[in-house]
Amino acid sequence: MAGHDLKIELVKKLSKVNIILSADFDYSIIGNIDLDVIVEKVIELKKDAPMLKIATNDDIKNIIDIIKKELMQKAPQPIEVNRSSTFKPIAEEFEANYKIMNKSKDRTGGTVSDFVVYFNDRLNAIKEIFATHRKYSITHNLETLKNYTDGREVVVVGIVSNKITTKNGNIMVVIEDATDESKIMFMNNPNNELKKLFESASKIINDEVIAIRGKISGPFIIARELLWPDIPIKERKTITEDIAVALISDTHIGSKLFMERNFSRMLEWLNGNVDTKSKELAGKIKYMIVGGDIVDGIGVYPGHDRDLAILDIYKQYEVFANFLSEIPEYIQVFVLPGNHDAVQKSEPQPELGSDLINVKLDNVHFVPNPNYISVHGLEILTYHGTSLDSIIRSIPNMSYAKPESAMIEILKRRHLSPIYGGNTIVPTRYDTLVIDNVPDILHMGHIHKNGIDEYHGVHIVNSGTFQDRTEYQIKQGHIPTPCNVPIFEMKKYGFTTINFNSEF
Ligand SMILES: [Fe+2]
Repeated sequence: MAGHDLKIELVKKLSKVNIILSADFDYSIIGNIDLDVIVEKVIELKKDAPMLKIATNDDIKNIIDIIKKELMQKAPQPIEVNRSSTFKPIAEEFEANYKIMNKSKDRTGGTVSDFVVYFNDRLNAIKEIFATHRKYSITHNLETLKNYTDGREVVVVGIVSNKITTKNGNIMVVIEDATDESKIMFMNNPNNELKKLFESASKIINDEVIAIRGKISGPFIIARELLWPDIPIKERKTITEDIAVALISDTHIGSKLFMERNFSRMLEWLNGNVDTKSKELAGKIKYMIVGGDIVDGIGVYPGHDRDLAILDIYKQYEVFANFLSEIPEYIQVFVLPGNHDAVQKSEPQPELGSDLINVKLDNVHFVPNPNYISVHGLEILTYHGTSLDSIIRSIPNMSYAKPESAMIEILKRRHLSPIYGGNTIVPTRYDTLVIDNVPDILHMGHIHKNGIDEYHGVHIVNSGTFQDRTEYQIKQGHIPTPCNVPIFEMKKYGFTTINFNSEF
């Protein structure tokens, strides 16, 4: 809002509570202070004033000074953590062994033809995955179906462009490839096998790539089988080093609800300063991944200011930089952005740059979102998880209480963000969001709810948050699980979660 508009807005808000703003008021002093907070304080100041209540320039100036002071007190203060002299972390004895496997960052512009290139690459990449199934050979381009007579069995692959329920209660799905489109019917039939197929069809989402075996019947293919690309069984890796990876995300530094005390306790714990039975585990941590929404950002939603303890985006990152410097230097830290961070919102997102955050630590690596990171041969696919919102909305029985179920659906579809438009995507020549390489661990955040599961041998983890429950989450009925840090022990090949709420 421009300064002058801010003044008009403040005049309106004050007049609603019968307070007049003095004519000489200088609007430039407002800065980015939330008007509602100012109004609240003016009401308090003028509550005993006679009938004619006037807020002067000095009144507002004093109030803004008070608000700034309050915010400063709420903002996290720089901390210094020293490593305990009795702490002998085993992780320090091992050489770091990691690879950051950035996928192609080849970008094209946003024109229609580029979207065609983008979707064709998605289709071809997932067709290749279907080709490894071996159960069926997919030989038919959609265009060739015209030449076939009724009753012929075909196996086709395409991108879903539409899904509707017909008048008769059947599900009709339109799929496309580079040559044509086809209408697939899933009949609402009480017959057991067809009923299952119909239920599966209710999970079909727009823009994903599916395969269908069915019979041609006039302008339709009557579906007999529905296939998602899915993942093969992933074999357990054998890692002899007894070290671990800690996974966190959604710290939301700068928010009034950032749980600074608990976060500081985690830093103390990493430095061996907390005497708990998990001290040995703290010493095993050799890697840490921070999965986005590092800071709360500014202007992410209307009225965001009133939820912020730090109004300056650079200061938000400065606080994070201070925290990073308190992580023991033998721990390699990988940091990717999320939708609250101050980089391009469209995915794939570039890494946080030195223009935003000034960190000169050899053990800290800023990486794009998403990214594959390999540590001692263990492959971790890490993605902030913005697409989980549209997945949870679109697939029956998904919920914010179980992000791991939505993550399994993502794996089955072999795409990190299948629903186009659910969150914005940059059309790249190669669809970098295709899961072409099945990881050992799939890590996401965004939902602020911890979740751990295993699917076909792949470990699935949502690393929760360090932000307390927000007003929005209360309204939506979402219950976050802040300050729970999942830790993957490589030798044991499993997770342990440390709760920095209750164990400390
Ligand atoms: Fe978040």
